[in-house]
Amino acid sequence: MSTTDIAGDAGAGRNTFVYVTAALAALNGLLFGFDTGIISGAFLYIKQTFAMSPLVRGIVVSGAMAGAAAGAALGGKLADRIGRRRLILLGAVVFFIGSFTMAVAPNVPVLVLGRLIDGVAIGFASIVGPLYISEIAPPKIRGALTSLNQLMVTVGILASYFVNYAFADAGAWRWMLGAGMVPAVVLAVGMVKMPESPRWLFEHGRRDEAREVLERTRQGGVEEELSEIEATVEKQSGTGLRDLLQPWLRPALVVGLGLAVFQQVTGINAVMYYAPTVLESTGFGSTTSILATVGIGVINVVMTVVAIALIDRVGRRALLLVGVGGMVVTLGVLGGVFYLPGFSGALGWFATGSLMLYVAFFAIGLGPVFWLLISEIYPLSARGTAMGAVTVANWGANLVVSLTFPILTANVGTAATFWLFGGLSAVALVFTYAVVPETKGRSLEEIESDLRENVGTAAEGTRGESPDAADD
Ligand code: BGC
Repeated sequence: MSTTDIAGDAGAGRNTFVYVTAALAALNGLLFGFDTGIISGAFLYIKQTFAMSPLVRGIVVSGAMAGAAAGAALGGKLADRIGRRRLILLGAVVFFIGSFTMAVAPNVPVLVLGRLIDGVAIGFASIVGPLYISEIAPPKIRGALTSLNQLMVTVGILASYFVNYAFADAGAWRWMLGAGMVPAVVLAVGMVKMPESPRWLFEHGRRDEAREVLERTRQGGVEEELSEIEATVEKQSGTGLRDLLQPWLRPALVVGLGLAVFQQVTGINAVMYYAPTVLESTGFGSTTSILATVGIGVINVVMTVVAIALIDRVGRRALLLVGVGGMVVTLGVLGGVFYLPGFSGALGWFATGSLMLYVAFFAIGLGPVFWLLISEIYPLSARGTAMGAVTVANWGANLVVSLTFPILTANVGTAATFWLFGGLSAVALVFTYAVVPETKGRSLEEIESDLRENVGTAAEGTRGESPDAADD
């Protein structure tokens, strides 16, 4: 029986297995980052192939985000129903079909169809990557392992900047968009041998399989973890959207929805999608702007690595507070750089420097911590559905910011737009301080029971009175 074989494994081997599994699942993040970043460059050349009205252009760019919102809504339910692993496999197939459709699109309607299909896969990936990893990871390293997904989002965005650059001279937008097929195949092949989430298995009555997975991924404590999961499963009730409104779940819903919206309305994708345009407006040439954007992408990756190193040590709240606080300051400075006279000549460099600092603070806080927390704070029975609802809000807010950013800068100016993001970051800071719980070092089941116990207590109860929150 394989359980005994597995139990006989060396402990180190088991941890390697969990790292490999998490790294493969994090390819979801790579596809998410790559497929959202690639359009910025590809679009320059699509415009030359197809004549499009401004409205149609907007639809081509934002089609993927609309698809992602739909994919998140659908993916959440699917994750609970068909399982996390099968959803990853399905997502990889959808990614492949979407990228292929875009690459061969003979006209705009087919291109838009490809963007929508690709978007649905992005929506799936944005939920199931963090969800799967958080459920398979041992609590002590859950923050770092789950945030590998966000690391791969940043790597994917950076890779898309390079691919854009590589195919730019040839104007080969079909190759840019088609390149997404490669990681899709790697993800599908990689996941074939990976196990299903032990928590999902247990909840679906497949207890022996759940135990086997835990034995392969833990260095002990399997029985305790199983009985914790069992106790949680026994308390489950309902998985529908309406069940999320039960009083004990409301605080978690507020935290998730709030962070989802704040992650976007504080302006990250104005930078990720429009940095070259913003930098060109400072007098930089196209090449300098693109290179400076690559620099911003590198900072995003590097600071996400720093966040991963810290997240299970200093905790989620501390990183969020420092990160969001830093965004308030850097956005204030950024607005000032565009507002004050006297920066001309050096304006581009000051702007690049402040953009880099701003992205650094995002990458250490709101970037990884949002996706991590929403994979931790919902009860097992509704985890997929709840993450779906929150992720839809994230994509919706993303769509609003990326559609309105050009309009805002044209009408109120770049300085005021960054100050607006700065003001919203200040609100996000107060929100984080007031309601975001600490989940460091606690098992998913302990987090769930904290939530239940806090029902009916005063506002500070929503902070999760965990020992870790206290000693941070
Ligand atoms: C956000 C994306 C963003 C990316 C940048 C993610 O956490 O959800 O919208 O583009 O971070 O690194």
